[in-house]
Amino acid sequence: MSETTAPPSTAIPDPRPRVDVPSDTMTVRGGVPVDGALTIRGSKNALPKAMVAALLTEETCRLTNIAAIRDIEVVEELIGIAGGTVEHDADSITITAHTFTALGESDVERLHNASRIPILTTAVSLHRTGEAVVAAPGGCAIGPRPVDFHLSVLRALGARDEHHDGMIHLRADRLHGARIDLPFPSVGATEQFLFASVLAEGDSELANAAIEPEILDLIAVLQKMGALISVEPNRTIRVTGVDQLGGFEHRVIGDRLEAASWASLALATGGRLTVEGVQQQDLATFLNVYRRAGGDFTIDAEGNRIEFTRARRMLRPLALETDVHPGFMTDWQSPFVTALTQADGVSVVHETVYEDRLGYTEALRTLGAQIQVFTECLGPTRCRFGAANHRHSAVVVGPTKLHGAELVVPDLRAGFSYVAAAAAADGESVIHGVGLLDRGYAEFRHKLAAVGIDHS
Ligand code: EPU
Repeated sequence: MSETTAPPSTAIPDPRPRVDVPSDTMTVRGGVPVDGALTIRGSKNALPKAMVAALLTEETCRLTNIAAIRDIEVVEELIGIAGGTVEHDADSITITAHTFTALGESDVERLHNASRIPILTTAVSLHRTGEAVVAAPGGCAIGPRPVDFHLSVLRALGARDEHHDGMIHLRADRLHGARIDLPFPSVGATEQFLFASVLAEGDSELANAAIEPEILDLIAVLQKMGALISVEPNRTIRVTGVDQLGGFEHRVIGDRLEAASWASLALATGGRLTVEGVQQQDLATFLNVYRRAGGDFTIDAEGNRIEFTRARRMLRPLALETDVHPGFMTDWQSPFVTALTQADGVSVVHETVYEDRLGYTEALRTLGAQIQVFTECLGPTRCRFGAANHRHSAVVVGPTKLHGAELVVPDLRAGFSYVAAAAAADGESVIHGVGLLDRGYAEFRHKLAAVGIDHS
């Protein structure tokens, strides 16, 4: 037999995927200050909601400034199952939902496990079909993520619900206006209220509403569609229901969570980073804290391009409390705490939005950080978690020299803080589960390379 004979046809096929799928484990070689520029696209927490708004009309809707993130794919899949179409080009998504079919239990369960967005289609489904299914909340790395506020909003507006086998079935003829007072300014419950009230009969009012920039962006979309919504100065949103809504074109706001994550990474490594595509006013509270901690920034005339640097060789410790807008966002907390491990002294962090969003500090300790978690409210606000014994405050002692370690990503923002810590640490870190970061950080690996982080 000649040496050039083809291999026998009984050869075992190569089971590896043919496409070049990035491995879910990343190795980061840290210790070098970042240096580079990034463009941030549409917000992970605004874009999917605008896609849901498009389901309130039979007319075509177009969104631009699209980020390539996993959460968008979940909404696209949901729209397809409900009978709508989604078309993509380089920077835009066009959605048409001539028809809408209520999702079945198995689709709801699967999509609910992938994202928080499907619950937001409940009001849409009630408007268009008179029924909806919601998966009862399950466990999640940042707490149980309940849906009780969503249900109270929908009940007040006339929906009836029945619970069985981990599923909640809702029904409504036409929803009607109501006055609702939220126990906490929940982003999702406020969005549910907006989706439900814009097509309800009569006037509605939501007191103690969330007023995050992502909510104001959704209100802008709904206004373009023909909705009548006013935001009062005291966290109250008033809506007069209309009979139908029309199509829209909208450029989604830039992702202020992603911008702050990269800025915190620059602070942690003592680097320099230019971020383009996010408005200064949406980051105002973050920028104040950044400067207090010893970071610095310059902003262009349009407030759309921000260069982050360190003003001092050694960062300053500080007291930080997360809150609803215009407070310091909970999603900014974990990447920023990573930077605080490099501050000269004791920083105190009080998380008041999620009861269980400090679990990631355990992993930072394996890189050498000195962080202790407490059940007490270590901040000026007596929040609802203190009395319930939740581990929601932290004391960070710095500066600590971080070193490489092996980590497993539990959720999106914690995952970013691990990468930031690994970039600041001397030596090599191995991070498993980095695929979770694709949920909210578009072109993540490409951006790491663009700012000079050595990874593979
Ligand atoms: N809550 C309830 N009952 C409810 C709803 C919320 O008790 O029915 C509680 C939550 O458990 C939490 C608090 O209210 O303690 C705030 O939750 P909220 O409803 O505001 O959060 P969300 O709408 O589920 C969005 C973002 C989160 C972000 C929060 C706070 C999306 C898809 N998610 O969540 O983003 O942290 O608002 O700003 O918009 C992230 O991007 O990593 C992320 C988790």
